[in-house]
Amino acid sequence: MDRLVIEGGYRLHGEVTVSGAKNAALPIMTAALLAETPSIIHNVPDLRDTRMMAEVLRALGAKVEFENSTLKVDPSTFSITEAPYDMVRKMRASVYVLAPMVTRLGEARVSLPGGCAIGARPIDLHLRGLESLGADVKLEHGYIVARNEKMQGGEVLLTGPNGSSVGATANTLMMAVLTPGTTTIRGAAKEPEIIDLVGYLKAMGAQIDGAGTSTLKIEGVSKLKGVKYSIIPDRIEAGTFFAAAAITEGDCRVHGAKLDQLESVIDKMGEMGVYISAENGSVRVACDGPPRAASFRTLPYPGFPTDMQAQFMALLCLADGQSVITETIYPDRFIHVSEFVRMGAKVTLSPGQAIVQGVPKLSGAPVMASDLRASAALVVAGLAADGVTDIHRVYHIDRGYERIEEKLQGLGANIRRVQTPRPVMD
Ligand code: UD1
Repeated sequence: MDRLVIEGGYRLHGEVTVSGAKNAALPIMTAALLAETPSIIHNVPDLRDTRMMAEVLRALGAKVEFENSTLKVDPSTFSITEAPYDMVRKMRASVYVLAPMVTRLGEARVSLPGGCAIGARPIDLHLRGLESLGADVKLEHGYIVARNEKMQGGEVLLTGPNGSSVGATANTLMMAVLTPGTTTIRGAAKEPEIIDLVGYLKAMGAQIDGAGTSTLKIEGVSKLKGVKYSIIPDRIEAGTFFAAAAITEGDCRVHGAKLDQLESVIDKMGEMGVYISAENGSVRVACDGPPRAASFRTLPYPGFPTDMQAQFMALLCLADGQSVITETIYPDRFIHVSEFVRMGAKVTLSPGQAIVQGVPKLSGAPVMASDLRASAALVVAGLAADGVTDIHRVYHIDRGYERIEEKLQGLGANIRRVQTPRPVMD
């Protein structure tokens, strides 16, 4: 199993380019199965999750080639209507296959995903979407079993207790484009990744209005055609580089970052005293001292993203003063806190909230990555810590960051990947 070993204390400087957005690529890869002809998708990040999704599409019968960030999907042989437990357990986004299975093949048998390290993650809203379009849905032996019994467009409200759902919006949208009649999705997610999915579906011939608002109107069409498309840059990867530049009191240019998709993050960085501006098509982030404390709450887009919470907590661990972080999307998403504390951070937890009292220094330590963004946060913390931080279980980071150590090395970080041989048991 690989580890990342970081010697902290090097100021990051120079330029880095963000890859395509994982959370846009995953639904778009699945949506390729909605068409009858092949799609060519560019700027697909080469990650554990996108490779896994390519495997999922192959397991469902599609022909898939993935090379140099370009993915070719030929859906003409898509014929399998089951996504087993092992597939969905490894990657929750596999539930997106519900939409092409039900609309193109007439039935679906998809394992319920279960919980994950960041807390309970129900899929009731995905099921509400299916049912509102008239599908016959049953839960049997840990599986969602759905049949297309004359599905027809309808109205659905997709707001859950913590706001809109990205996954349920994507799944329902993908179902509605091939369902006859008009579908209205209220409480839809407004995330840029949903706008990107809408862009791809419209290029394929779908009729959708309202992308980027909370109401999506879809007029079902009878078929879609494959097209060429390019995925948007990853705003969360960009924000992670912002945090890395700031925590090392560095000066970096991040290419591909779109300021208009990162407004809540940029506002917070301004409050923390970090210099950030768009310059010649890239974003410059610079910081010449410890950040000021700042409080924030995670919210659906355009609010502060939960996927940036852990990386910003790393930064606030070294801030001058006390910050309060409220997590409203995944109230239990604080597993990284115990690892930060082992590095000398002062963080106390109460339900859904972390109080971070800034300290002058973090100290490097062996730490354990628990999920994707938590591992990115440990990398950010390690870049500024005294001594060596040895991050175990980095397969989590490989799910969502392409060549993270190479990109950080390019910015002057002292980081290397080390392979730990598997223990030999007699
Ligand atoms: C997506 C992102 C993930 C990000 C999350 C929130 C992908 C592949 N993953 O996950 O990185 O952290 O958005 O921005 O795009 N909920 C329900 N019922 C449902 C579905 C969700 O109550 O049926 C709740 C969730 O528990 C959570 C909130 O709604 O509290 C938002 O979840 P959702 O937007 O669906 O997250 P994902 O699409 O799984």
